Amino acid sequence: MKNEARVLDIARHFHSQTDPRLHEDQGPLTIVAGHGATIIDDLGNHYIEGMGGLWCASLGFSDSRLADAADRQLRKLAVYHTFNHRSNEPTIELVEQLAALAPFENARVFLVGSGSEANDTMVKLAWYYHAARGHADKRKIISRYGAFHGSTVMGAALSGLPHMHQSFNLPPLPVIFAARPFHYFDSLPNETGRDYATRLANELEALILAEGPETIAAMIAEPVMGAGGVLVPPEGYFRKIQAILRKHDILMLLTKWSAVSGALETGSAARRSAWSRTCFRSQRGCRQVTFLSAASSYRTRSTNASPTRRTRRECSATDSPIPVTQ
Ligand SMILES: Cc1ncc(COP(=O)(O)O)c(C=O)c1O
Repeated sequence: MKNEARVLDIARHFHSQTDPRLHEDQGPLTIVAGHGATIIDDLGNHYIEGMGGLWCASLGFSDSRLADAADRQLRKLAVYHTFNHRSNEPTIELVEQLAALAPFENARVFLVGSGSEANDTMVKLAWYYHAARGHADKRKIISRYGAFHGSTVMGAALSGLPHMHQSFNLPPLPVIFAARPFHYFDSLPNETGRDYATRLANELEALILAEGPETIAAMIAEPVMGAGGVLVPPEGYFRKIQAILRKHDILMLLTKWSAVSGALETGSAARRSAWSRTCFRSQRGCRQVTFLSAASSYRTRSTNASPTRRTRRECSATDSPIPVTQ
């Protein structure tokens, strides 16, 4: 059966973020079970899954309370939508709980089915917001090199990873790129974290002025960059860049803040930290659009520093993305 499943996967399954030719040779790593932070493959190998699935296995890889809740609900009302004023009880309960988690007043929750869809939605809402205020020309979105923002057309355009752009012939979309906050590799000799954060904020402002603030709708950022290398920003980074954004009437779109904040702290502790306050409180009310995703439950420390520090030159070939979309 194991080999049969492997052959079927190779023959029938077109994987995302996977080289199809390589997949024909090596086939899938097939996971059959999981408990807590551990997963087990079809050969019985156990792994500690440091990424939490795709940064989303907040409650581990099997949870009987979740299974029971799903079982109860699937037997009562398996599916219903929320278009055109429709709602349903679990949805209302969920939005209430999510709103209570947001550390700002009067949060509203827009539910979607994936991170990519959440980011597309945030961009649409940012365009809507500026157009409604008579600034329809504010359309460009600032993203950052190394960012991963999803697999949809806009998600790929927002992603600062060359392989998300090359070969797909993406249409021109109004996305521009700023530097990633990677003190460990990208700082100047003897540059402190604070100085580096100040320099990045100054560079961001220079980019905004060069492009024209009246053309820029929003900046999108993962508070801790995930796929780009689990990059914890230097101290003061978000406070400094948010001041620049506010000055130029540019929205901050925060994505998956809590999913990777497991690298710092978890759950409500992360919400209470100075770091998350910076992210959430400095732009209030409708000036902020936030996508809350599931929090990673792993209490791991940041893995920012690799055991052997590579030189800037060694890193640049693979880690430094190029400007891709205009
Ligand atoms: C920061 C971030 N944004 C967006 C996405 C895309 O989410 P999805 O695969 O659910 O569309 C991911 C996926 O890992 C992500 O890490």
